[in-house]
Amino acid sequence: MSKTEHNEVILQVKNLRQYFRLGRKGIVKAVDDVSFDVYKGETLGLVGESGSGKTTTGRSIIRLYDPDGGEVYFEGNRIDGPMDKKTKKLLTKNMQMIFQDPQASLNGRMTVGDIIAEGLDVHGLYTSKQDKMKKVYEMLETVGLNREHASRYPHEFSGGQRQRIGIARALILDPKIVIADEPISALDVSIQAQVVNLMNELKKERD
Ligand SMILES: Nc1ncnc2c1ncn2[C@@H]1O[C@H](COP(=O)(O)OP(=O)(O)OP(=O)(O)O)[C@@H](O)[C@H]1O
Ligand SMILES: [Mg+2]
Repeated sequence: MSKTEHNEVILQVKNLRQYFRLGRKGIVKAVDDVSFDVYKGETLGLVGESGSGKTTTGRSIIRLYDPDGGEVYFEGNRIDGPMDKKTKKLLTKNMQMIFQDPQASLNGRMTVGDIIAEGLDVHGLYTSKQDKMKKVYEMLETVGLNREHASRYPHEFSGGQRQRIGIARALILDPKIVIADEPISALDVSIQAQVVNLMNELKKERD
């Protein structure tokens, strides 16, 4: 864990709980009383055996699930329960997730350009079609792909390239925090280092 000099807490997780109810078979306490802080510019790694709740923790924080208990604050705004419009927007723009399996997490019917631009569309963050495509092209180049890739579909790419698409999609909104759920474990060993290096560079560039 390395803290930057400003020591600004960006994400605060307090006693997070996420249970899964399995009907008559009972309940899985996937996340139970998890607390940690993440500072601006910091990388925090969550380590634990399979099934210990790492993925669920990430998904609960970014609100793919509704937490059963505890508190989560993003830049001081509470995000674990009902949120007003402004907070919701803050969250969807500034917190992004990169998933373990780039194959499963990219919509195969959308072009790579549309996948990467989706967040821009949602938040209306461009002035014209040209402006939007310029942002998409820049992002493709940032992750080591190129503009010709924008019109192609995810299945036309290798695993490593697909994960780069996932990273581009996550970063185009310039999020303040990225939750990466084993972003390299589905990749060949030979390309794992490339993706890690890319993420490190982007972290340095964008804090
Ligand atoms: N949607 C779900 N419904 C029911 N149970 C779930 C669900 N998602 C996860 N679980 C259970 O919650 C627990 C934590 O799972 P989770 O996927 O968070 O673990 P993990 O630490 O990410 O594991 P891995 O290292 O294998 O990815 C496991 O017991 C899992 O079976
Ligand atoms: Mg997991």
